Amino acid sequence: MTLIRDKDFGTPARTSDKQVTLEIDGRSVSVPEGTSVMRAASEAGVNIPKLCATDKLESFGSCRLCVVQVDGRRGLPSSCTLPAEEGMKVTTENEKLARVRRGVMELYISDHPLDCLTCSANGNCELQDMAGQVGLRNVRYGYDGENHLEAEKDESNPYFTFDPSKCIVCSRCVRACEEVQGTFALTIGGRGFDSHVSAGAEQSFLESDCVSCGACVDACPTATLMEDSVIEMGQPEHSVITTCAYCGVGCGFKAEMKGGEVVRMTPWKDGKANHGHSCVKGRFAWGYATHQDRITSPMIREKITDPWREVSWDEAIDYSAKRLKEVQEKYGRKSVGGITSSRCTNEEVYVVQKLIRAAFGNNNVDTCARVCHSPTGYGLKETLGTSAGTQAFDSVMEADVIMIIGSNPSDAHPVFASQMKRRLRQGAKLIIVDPRAIELVKTPHVKADYHLALRPGTNVAMINALAHVIVSEGLEQTDYIRERCDMEAYEAWREFVLRDENSPENMAEITGVPAEDIRAAARLYASAHDGKEGRAAIYYGLGVTEHSQGSTMVMGMANLAMATGNIGFEGAGVNPMRGQNNVQGSCDMGSFPHELPGYRPVSDDATRGLFEKDWGVKLDNEPGLRIPGMFDAAVEGSYKAMYIQGEDVAQSDPNTHHVEAALRNLDCLIVQDLFLNETARFAHIFLPGTSFLEKDGTFINAERRTSRVRKAMQPKNGPDGQGMDEWEITCRIARAMGYDMHYNSASEIMDEIARLTPSFAGISFDKLDRLGSIQWPCNDKAPEGTETMHVGGFVRGKGNFVVTEYVPTKEKVTRRFPLLLTTGRILSQYNVGAQTRRTKNNIWHDEDVLEIHPHDAEERNIAEGDLVSLESRMGETTLRAHISERMQPGVVYTTFHMPDTGANVVTTELSDWATSCPEYKVTAVQIRRTNKRSDWQEHYDEFTEQTRHIAE
Ligand code: SF4
Ligand code: SF4
Ligand code: SF4
Ligand code: FES
Repeated sequence: MTLIRDKDFGTPARTSDKQVTLEIDGRSVSVPEGTSVMRAASEAGVNIPKLCATDKLESFGSCRLCVVQVDGRRGLPSSCTLPAEEGMKVTTENEKLARVRRGVMELYISDHPLDCLTCSANGNCELQDMAGQVGLRNVRYGYDGENHLEAEKDESNPYFTFDPSKCIVCSRCVRACEEVQGTFALTIGGRGFDSHVSAGAEQSFLESDCVSCGACVDACPTATLMEDSVIEMGQPEHSVITTCAYCGVGCGFKAEMKGGEVVRMTPWKDGKANHGHSCVKGRFAWGYATHQDRITSPMIREKITDPWREVSWDEAIDYSAKRLKEVQEKYGRKSVGGITSSRCTNEEVYVVQKLIRAAFGNNNVDTCARVCHSPTGYGLKETLGTSAGTQAFDSVMEADVIMIIGSNPSDAHPVFASQMKRRLRQGAKLIIVDPRAIELVKTPHVKADYHLALRPGTNVAMINALAHVIVSEGLEQTDYIRERCDMEAYEAWREFVLRDENSPENMAEITGVPAEDIRAAARLYASAHDGKEGRAAIYYGLGVTEHSQGSTMVMGMANLAMATGNIGFEGAGVNPMRGQNNVQGSCDMGSFPHELPGYRPVSDDATRGLFEKDWGVKLDNEPGLRIPGMFDAAVEGSYKAMYIQGEDVAQSDPNTHHVEAALRNLDCLIVQDLFLNETARFAHIFLPGTSFLEKDGTFINAERRTSRVRKAMQPKNGPDGQGMDEWEITCRIARAMGYDMHYNSASEIMDEIARLTPSFAGISFDKLDRLGSIQWPCNDKAPEGTETMHVGGFVRGKGNFVVTEYVPTKEKVTRRFPLLLTTGRILSQYNVGAQTRRTKNNIWHDEDVLEIHPHDAEERNIAEGDLVSLESRMGETTLRAHISERMQPGVVYTTFHMPDTGANVVTTELSDWATSCPEYKVTAVQIRRTNKRSDWQEHYDEFTEQTRHIAE
């Protein structure tokens, strides 16, 4: 294992149909027009010294270290800013150039601490390398002149330090913050000798707008911006390429290691989802993997009020199998089931659903996608024929109009948000449909053209009104529709959206958005059409799916995209912003109770036959229970045992009272996780899981991209260091129950997935290692995968328009509950927070707050920071108030990262009509000032204390 150092070509790659050929140090080099001489030289193996240039940023030309000589030209131009031209003859090394470069280095070094041997960048410092490369031997100016050596460090950021005494003012950090991240938190203040890097208006990094993405740290060629972990541990000695385990962007990372310890995670330049960028979570918030709260020994107990007893793996597995079998003997084959996790690898998920189908003998398997993107699967399959997004992330760089609906990319999908901002800064138009003014509505250099701030729960009314404008104003792409879509379905849809009831004027009252804004936004979306004159892309999130009409809305968006000819090429499409790292994969792997891997119905004899033959067992042909059905059956008493892998239903699922009642009623609850999470309070068996750093397998991101997850460290989940792969734990339970499930490696599991699932037919670990990542479908027709779906025609044959009638949610505001609560995420925390809460990310967010519009706050005499009771028809909880203009009057908002927030104590049991995805985004509530925590919160503390006890 070696340390992987990405080659830096100095300036970004260019694409052009035209090649130019030049001569560099006598070598002939051909590059696309627009390529810099520096890059051309680097591609030919000639490394011109550089300091202010890096290929992640546009060239800047400030340091003058990269000067070259060009035949027939006067002066010594900087090669990073000099475009390669046909016939150019370039010399990169001669005595004159060497003198200039040494002079540049002398100036830098005369104002630089000479502490190389004790510097944290020692061995990985571009300044040090360049001093060596230019042959610097002495500094004529001495070291006693005016300098910055006493400049004070800024250690305010919890993960990196800014030491200005080492700064060479190359501006790479400033440009990285602008060009790569799009935050514009840094500037160069002062002039001449006083020039210095400044966060915000001479603030500390923590006080500034910095979002701690790490791009500046990555770009810095010296030790000025340095990870604290490197300062503490020293430089890493080997790297392992893997994939971030937080959100659905699926960023590639290098885990940079020292033995079995992570020194730092750096974004992988060749990662196709992130191209070397990251956010604060993937880059810095990995400390939870070795947090002291981690449970590393299997544990069992008879009753949930007993203390936990640590046991060997053998005992834990046998006890699990025994209790599951006892339940089945007493209550029947269908009285047990399980939940797979979108945090886990495909291979881990696949074996859990196989355990349930083959060893439990039923289809009682569901996944956390039930509570987030199940409507995506349903809606896109009905209309287009595939339960997945249509594009690659890079496609956004071709979009001329971007419509974001119910998604907050800056917080939930930050690396993709940065890419999207880049496109917006290039001039793409932006429409945002969201009850709340998310960051993208107005941010440095990006401003939405339209923000349709609709009332929560009225998405379908909005999409119908947009469609009405497009159809009634003749903005459809009729040739596209005729060629690609089912005309009968189209005519029915057309007749429906044209009805007066769907006009923006009639829908304005329901959505709360002025008709003229809806009309203008519809015209803008439709103005980008047919792949020649412009392209429009829709990106959406849980603000679409987590509604009683979630599936309807997904189909409504697909209708709109088909009607305007915006599917089947880059820059267009309908794109779900998947929440969890592997939510796409967990759905693909057959985690739903009615579908085998690859979304094929369990009721289909031929499909079942295929799996029965391979698995050597008869399979149930009846769909099993969905998660809400499991809870209902548990409360009612017919469902008695559950195996839950990496999912914290007690915190994440709606109507906490009901979920807790269900969990209490189980005879056997097995929780497999890293921590004693909220669900584990009700468990009888705890099987310690592994963090992503200990896993071997694959994740699939929001763009259908399968990427490898590789073991950076050995599994830590076992007594006396006997860690076990999570898929092996599942296999051992299966074997203990009498079904022989055995694999030698995760790779073997993927081979089985590929053998049985047509869209994965061409995927193997070998191919992934070769290609880096693969977007499914990958098969004989597309051996290297598929970037854009539905090119030339829809997967289902003809595109299917579906009539999307607006049906208001049953959750109504009344005098008693006059406000609507909606929920979302924040950048620094992740979902139930089990991981991020165990990192220094708490510095940004250690408490969920309730955002309230000033008007609503004033009416209730609520001031910033007051404790407020949040009460719905389902329950009550207490939070701190944050008065915010981002809200519209009548709507309040909170995040749900902290368990004792109890956001789900108030959410209802209403759900999407097609998929049972909970309606998290609309709850009628009342708020009032209070001075105490709610009864639920008091009870929570007590019960948590009681049920987390581990026997000494
Ligand atoms: S902090 Fe680093 S990247 Fe920024 S100007 Fe100084 S040396 Fe260059
Ligand atoms: S960490 Fe990211 S956001 Fe913060 S200053 Fe650096 S580049 Fe900008
Ligand atoms: S954007 Fe998502 S995948 Fe990328 S580093 Fe952040 S959390 Fe990880
Ligand atoms: S690297 Fe070209 S001017 Fe600095």
